[in-house]
Amino acid sequence: MAKIKTLVALLLLLARSLKTFPLEDESSEKNENLDWEISEESCRLSGNAVPIHYDIKLIPYIEENNFTFDGETITRLNLKNMTRTLDFHSLELTFDETGVYLESEDGQKYNAIDFVYVNVTEIMTISFEKVIPAGIYSLYAKFTGIINDQLTGFYRSSYTNDYGEKVWLATTQFQATYARQAFPCWDEPSFKATFNVSIKHRTNYTALSNMPVYERSTIDESDEKMWTHFQKTPIMSTYTLAFVVSDFVNISNTDDTIRIWARSNILPSIIFGYKVALKASILLEEYTNSSMLIPKMDHVVIPDYRHGAMENWGLITYDEKLFLYNPNTSTVSDKTMTAMIVVHELTHQWFGNVVSPIWWNHIWLNEGFASFFQYYITDKVFPSWRFMEMLPFHLQLIIHPYNINSCDKPISYNVCSPTEIEDIFDVILYTKTQSLLNMLRHIVSEDVFHRSLINYLQKNQYSNALPDDLFHEIQIGVDNTPEISRGEFNVKEVMETWIYQGDYPLVTVKRNYVTGETTITQEIVKQCIDNNNTVSIIKCDLNECNDKWWIPINYATETDTNFLSTLPIHWLSPKNDSIIINGINADDWIIINVQQTGHYQVNYDETNWIKLAKYLNSPNYEKIHVLNRAQIIQDSYSMIVTNRMNLTIFLDLYNYLSREIDYIVWRPIFEIFHIYLHQFLGTTEGEKLFKPHVLNWMNNLFESVGFDFDPDDDYRTQLTKSNIRKFACSLGHLKCIMTANTQLIEFLEFSNKDQYPSDLKQWAYYYGINNLNESMFNKLLNIESKNISEIYDFLNFIEDKNVIEKYLNMTIAENSPFTTENSIEIYEGLFYTRYETINFVTDFILRNWDTINSRKSFGFKLARFMIFSATDKNKLQEIKLHLKEFNEDKEIIKCVKNREENLMYYEQLFGDFKAWLKTKELK
Ligand SMILES: *[C@@H]1O[C@H](CO)[C@@H](O)[C@H](O)[C@H]1NC(C)=O
Ligand SMILES: *[C@@H]1O[C@H](CO)[C@@H](O)[C@H](O)[C@H]1NC(C)=O
Ligand SMILES: *[C@@H]1O[C@H](CO)[C@@H](O)[C@H](O)[C@H]1NC(C)=O
Ligand SMILES: *[C@@H]1O[C@H](CO)[C@@H](O)[C@H](O)[C@H]1NC(C)=O
Ligand SMILES: *[C@@H]1O[C@H](CO)[C@@H](O)[C@H](O)[C@H]1NC(C)=O
Ligand SMILES: *[C@@H]1O[C@H](CO)[C@@H](O)[C@H](O)[C@H]1NC(C)=O
Ligand SMILES: *[C@@H]1O[C@H](CO)[C@@H](O)[C@H](O)[C@H]1NC(C)=O
Ligand SMILES: [Zn+2]
Repeated sequence: MAKIKTLVALLLLLARSLKTFPLEDESSEKNENLDWEISEESCRLSGNAVPIHYDIKLIPYIEENNFTFDGETITRLNLKNMTRTLDFHSLELTFDETGVYLESEDGQKYNAIDFVYVNVTEIMTISFEKVIPAGIYSLYAKFTGIINDQLTGFYRSSYTNDYGEKVWLATTQFQATYARQAFPCWDEPSFKATFNVSIKHRTNYTALSNMPVYERSTIDESDEKMWTHFQKTPIMSTYTLAFVVSDFVNISNTDDTIRIWARSNILPSIIFGYKVALKASILLEEYTNSSMLIPKMDHVVIPDYRHGAMENWGLITYDEKLFLYNPNTSTVSDKTMTAMIVVHELTHQWFGNVVSPIWWNHIWLNEGFASFFQYYITDKVFPSWRFMEMLPFHLQLIIHPYNINSCDKPISYNVCSPTEIEDIFDVILYTKTQSLLNMLRHIVSEDVFHRSLINYLQKNQYSNALPDDLFHEIQIGVDNTPEISRGEFNVKEVMETWIYQGDYPLVTVKRNYVTGETTITQEIVKQCIDNNNTVSIIKCDLNECNDKWWIPINYATETDTNFLSTLPIHWLSPKNDSIIINGINADDWIIINVQQTGHYQVNYDETNWIKLAKYLNSPNYEKIHVLNRAQIIQDSYSMIVTNRMNLTIFLDLYNYLSREIDYIVWRPIFEIFHIYLHQFLGTTEGEKLFKPHVLNWMNNLFESVGFDFDPDDDYRTQLTKSNIRKFACSLGHLKCIMTANTQLIEFLEFSNKDQYPSDLKQWAYYYGINNLNESMFNKLLNIESKNISEIYDFLNFIEDKNVIEKYLNMTIAENSPFTTENSIEIYEGLFYTRYETINFVTDFILRNWDTINSRKSFGFKLARFMIFSATDKNKLQEIKLHLKEFNEDKEIIKCVKNREENLMYYEQLFGDFKAWLKTKELK
């Protein structure tokens, strides 16, 4: 599964929270999961019955006012001990109780006489009239279920065809615990079995499942439907079973072993994904040294989807939004997403489908590899992207202290109930494991990593694995490669310190410039802060869970700028508090964590930071590997926001950016600026101080790529441009704004905007709008007025106070065209978008406070917006005085206090900043 939505949501959350607006509904979301706790025994199946083979026959009614299905299963199973009861999973299925019975091999029948269902565990226990001896049986069941609209189990989806008609389809999402919504089953990953699936459907629909079609029946006169019977699957877990019944069309390779299915009106947009699938399949077969182990691979693009995509064996399903790539209108990020998600799901065909984890606590064995190879293989599909260099960024996504709303919890911990299982698939699981597996690969070398994975897949195929099975194979590889092992570390011991504890280490480097001794220590950086700003306690499955890690250490120095070898040279371990490296030249800088392959942050003593700053600000800066330049930028940012670095050193380091033009370094900066800078710029003084400076840092980059759209730009240039367009214009860069204006005029004159990427369009509208003459402006309103929400999106960017005022007046007019929700979004947009507008909007709201607060019911919300956007102390005072009715409100008091503290912090920061500027002037 690819939970792309989680990641996107997180990014949004971050962006919002750091604009310091209060987060909402967060607590309610958290508490939902604490409804009940049940013991391990009661939420797992007894294990007395083990399924061998399922025969599943389903008749879905994909019809409005029905959306149900009839089902019939015959499950061959092995009863280990004699028993009078049988338990299995089931959810929202209604059994025909007279039709449920067990039959022994010799034809003896046992009727079910009692059904007991437990809601929270979703386990049905049936009892029989007499004791049943151990042995092989078939369980017969007849039931009905719902083709639901919850996007789990067997669910419905729809799209609008070219004639404006709504067309329905039915599809499945079984991971993690939803197969039980489609048929009674032993729905745990270790109960692997084979499956024969048969589906009866209308002849204008196609049924797909994991396997190719075995045979199709003739049309049944009574209901004008036909059966599609699929071949028997390999031995597999229930969660990777799937079927789709749709009127989709396909594109396929010559022997039909790779097909992409989608609704017919989006066919051109599936070609890119198809090409990635073709290439990635070959690369993965080469890498794993094994074929797919399934006869065909269908990729189906579904209009309504819960999480990014699902790796069902032989039948991958995708969220349409993430898979489609339109060469004209999609952005370069869309392209990246399509490539990554296809590779991610294809990787699962081995890591997950051929070898599956025994239980959900080890799901990182699936998601870690899929998330790692989505970089590694995409890098091979598109070598010019230099995609592996993009991987360490994700580590930073977790590591950055701004990420306080997400807990850096262990990637493996006990889960039992369906809700807990659902929760383990969080953003940490995907990003951290990807980083950890990359680290492991560098610890043991590319070659050992690769060979061990081939062995791991081969030895555990069609079966279930534990982390130990993986570590074991890698250990063998290490032991057979003396130059790697040096007898210093044990793979299992090392990796367990990373898997079973949350948070991450900060490695501190202190040098003695007289003796030449360099001392390296580790400490934990706690990441898990709840709404009350308290560090929560995470349960730790390891006995010796001591907040210490096995940390691979390697380094480069000024005289030995070898950034190529990423093997560890030393180890920090839970056993030793520190290690000492001798013989570093006192004049040299040192950089720890070559190419940023270790999953940790590094802080140095001041002298070393200063040496690095000096070097970076020299023409030699490129001798430091680009990933380590990115590391310095990211780590120093973390150090300053956690008060571990002073501003002078930080600014000296960042000052080098005026030389830097590599996207790999700028990528994290774009994130940092987006979030952090916005706060500074949202204050009167911050804007004055930072704006010219940041523009200066970026100027070289602007010059190196320009702002014009050029479809022939390479991948990196497109990414860079897409980002700098926004930044340059938001900082008021003249050339940027003029280019945006020219582009917008072209769109308006030639009505050709749909031939350009959506991000370019957006940018042209946002930043080009202010320099339109009146006739063009009216033309724009005429063209766009069909879609009111799009209009207020780009009206946010208008500078002309008269226009903004008109627009604001519309929100409070008696016959306002906006709903209350619209209006809130408009204010929110204006507060977020341009800091130059904040005070103007605040003044408007305060002037009309009585009207706004009485007529619309969102005074409280607006009060919070205003407080969190107050540009200085005086403004905050003024707002406070106006909001008398909220003066007693606890929430508002907290907001005011919070903003006061922020402004005080900025004041101090701005003081330091000015002092630093003085030192620059002196030189
Ligand atoms: C079967 O019975 C034996 C002996 O009573 C017991 O030890 C074992 O745990 C049982 N197995 C299962 C799967 O219930
Ligand atoms: C759906 O259609 C089937 C077949 O016509 C019928 O048996 C069933 O009762 C219908 N279900 C509902 C909820 O209408
Ligand atoms: C179990 O689920 C059913 C259907 O959702 C509901 O009607 C019933 O109240 C639930 N029982 C308990 C004990 O929660
Ligand atoms: C398939 O045929 C049925 C019955 O003729 C019709 O109601 C339905 O709309 C058709 N569906 C599609 C997707 O063509
Ligand atoms: C399952 O499908 C296979 C074809 O792949 C067929 O040979 C076999 O008879 C089927 N098994 C059952 C129990 O229907
Ligand atoms: C896939 O598409 C081709 C070309 O349109 C078509 O001939 C073929 O029947 C389709 N395959 C299936 C299984 O529908
Ligand atoms: C926060 O602290 C308050 C008071 O101590 C407590 O009532 C509340 O439950 C806490 N909330 C969370 C989410 O821990
Ligand atoms: Zn996945």
